Amino acid sequence: MNVKVFTDYEELSEAVATIVVDLIKRTPNAVICFASGHTPLLACQLFVAKILREKIDVSAIRFFSLDEWVGVPPENQGSCHHFFYDVIFNPLGLTKNQVYVFDALTNNEADECKKMDEAIAAAGGLDLMVVGIGMNGHIGFNEPGVAFDNYSHVMALDKSTIEGGQKYFETNTILSKGITIGLQHLIETKQVIMIANGDKKAEIIKRTFDETVNEQLPATIMKTHKNGTIMLDKAAASLLSANQFDASH
Ligand code: F6R
Repeated sequence: MNVKVFTDYEELSEAVATIVVDLIKRTPNAVICFASGHTPLLACQLFVAKILREKIDVSAIRFFSLDEWVGVPPENQGSCHHFFYDVIFNPLGLTKNQVYVFDALTNNEADECKKMDEAIAAAGGLDLMVVGIGMNGHIGFNEPGVAFDNYSHVMALDKSTIEGGQKYFETNTILSKGITIGLQHLIETKQVIMIANGDKKAEIIKRTFDETVNEQLPATIMKTHKNGTIMLDKAAASLLSANQFDASH
């Protein structure tokens, strides 16, 4: 696993944006999956701006949303659906057949997961995943205790995810389950980047580094990926010991 530490959130986001743009330049039909949320927001805004500025052709890329809050309608500004249409799909003018988001209102969750798995397979697998890390170490809605060999699935949300998730919503919102691309997909993705910024993530980042790979701390799966990188700002890396930090250079 590679580790990269950047001065601040802006530098970290700029680096992620560059990776995304370089991938699309190299591979015009790249298959990309992103988490939504606060951490990747600036990276998304920056890569979209670069694409528009440099007039890069994105007509062949495929873009997957990592997860969704079950039961939250797409027009709700706290939904992952809303995030991606607002920040990436609409600004880039991506068409319906280029984008894949879970239907949070489905009455057949198993079928919705199967559709996502089939779409990833039909796209030839994911080239790049950019994920965040929850305060409890989740990736997507792969909560503590998740089986690492799951493909897309629905999972009951941890108390901390339900409480922490309120930050995305204007009014108190009932959250109970997440539908998510699974960690087996992450393992099969060609390149995976996990990003974290800010003091509030320092503790869980330290645990991710310190603990052996285990399903109670899903982010530890990053250590098993053949082309995985953890990209942090200094604040998120602040509790790492010198050798963990040095190993990043
Ligand atoms: C959201 C997602 C979540 C977030 C994580 C961190 O689509 O997949 O796992 O990545 O909860 O959220 P932020 O970035 O808001 O701190």
